[in-house]
Amino acid sequence: MFNPYEIRKDFPILSRLIRGRRLIYLDNAATTQKPKQVVAAIAKYYLWHNANVHRGLHTLSQEASQMYEEAHEAVARFINARSWDEVVFTYNVTEALNLVAYTWGLRNVGEGDKIVLTVMEHHSNMLPWRNLARLKRARVVYADITNGGELTYEEFERLIDDRTRVVAVTLMSNVLGTITADVVKRVTKLAHEVGAVVVADGAQYVPHAPTDVRDLGVDFLGFSGHKMLGPMGIGVLWGRREILEELEPFKSGGDTIKDVTLSDVVWHDLPWRFEAGTPNVAGAVGLKAAIEYLTRLGMDAVREHEKRLVEYTLKRFNEELGDAVEVYGPKDPEVRGGVVAFNVKGLNHHTVGMALDMFGIAVRTGMHCAHPLHYRLGLKGTVRASYYVYNIKEEVDELVNALKTIILLKDKLEGEGVDERVCTGT
Ligand SMILES: Cc1ncc(COP(=O)(O)O)c(C=O)c1O
Repeated sequence: MFNPYEIRKDFPILSRLIRGRRLIYLDNAATTQKPKQVVAAIAKYYLWHNANVHRGLHTLSQEASQMYEEAHEAVARFINARSWDEVVFTYNVTEALNLVAYTWGLRNVGEGDKIVLTVMEHHSNMLPWRNLARLKRARVVYADITNGGELTYEEFERLIDDRTRVVAVTLMSNVLGTITADVVKRVTKLAHEVGAVVVADGAQYVPHAPTDVRDLGVDFLGFSGHKMLGPMGIGVLWGRREILEELEPFKSGGDTIKDVTLSDVVWHDLPWRFEAGTPNVAGAVGLKAAIEYLTRLGMDAVREHEKRLVEYTLKRFNEELGDAVEVYGPKDPEVRGGVVAFNVKGLNHHTVGMALDMFGIAVRTGMHCAHPLHYRLGLKGTVRASYYVYNIKEEVDELVNALKTIILLKDKLEGEGVDERVCTGT
């Protein structure tokens, strides 16, 4: 049984007092908190097994190598990949997406080719493609969103043609919460018909919903460990084996080769070819522990829990705050993940965020590394509450109560605010 009240006991940080009040952590889209089990797994690795991987014949090195490989296997199972060697560990999803742009992209995108993005991409799934387009004189076009903040198949149908080489799209918006997986599945078929690859940004999806790369049909998928209970500094790029096998390393050096002479190099097998230098073994071990934790909870249950929290939030906002707040993103909880971006009318988003901190409530404010989306919506920024497995309805009630007070004190609170363009994260 999924029980968030029990889950909370694994997260000591949630018992912290912030400004005299119990912390309410609603900044999970930026990074999630870590359960004791993940921290223990990392500590155990460092205290009992630490050694460099793949380079030693001694027992510790063998143990560390095995743990590192088992982490690849755990990720592969979690996303239903065909094989563990399709899983490349990166620093984060940003690095994973850059890896695709600067390996597959440099090799396969040429002058006049088309790269299809969407207006709601995080900068991490927009700028690498734009840089690639500049280098190769390719064109970037953007799928627009509907007024309800959704992507449509028809919009991609309009944009994708036989010059299209890449479609790079998020599986869930980090601002609007829009879940796009069903559209992406259909778009992937269309993209493949014209010989394009589909690169999915799973940063906000993989941590929150059951993910099956074979069912999605995409060619690449990236995500970050720190947004799914794991440590910072470990991310994943999954890629189709037949595509990865044709690529040369993004970064080269130790561990990426089978052999090197003064004039030649034979690249290593997958995935080592893409994991240059000493890897983040402890990070991988921590990510495996996080995956085990989430698997025990059940990803269907995680998704249901967040759906209920969002439904409850939208209902309470509507009933209690009415016109005083403006909420963005799809109304249908079926296509909306655990993210609620909003503004209090007449107040700067940063002012609201700082005021909420006085109540011990941690939210994110700004443009959330999605400036083009905010410009598209005509907004200077938003306040974003984002949920995870340990959030509970009572916290939503506290958020609503705090917002009521803030709305009452509106005239006293309005000030200068902070520069909206500060990339207040992720
Ligand atoms: C949709 C999306 N893509 C990419 C990123 C970048 O994540 P990271 O900073 O872990 O690379 C984020 C972070 O918030 C995100 O929400």
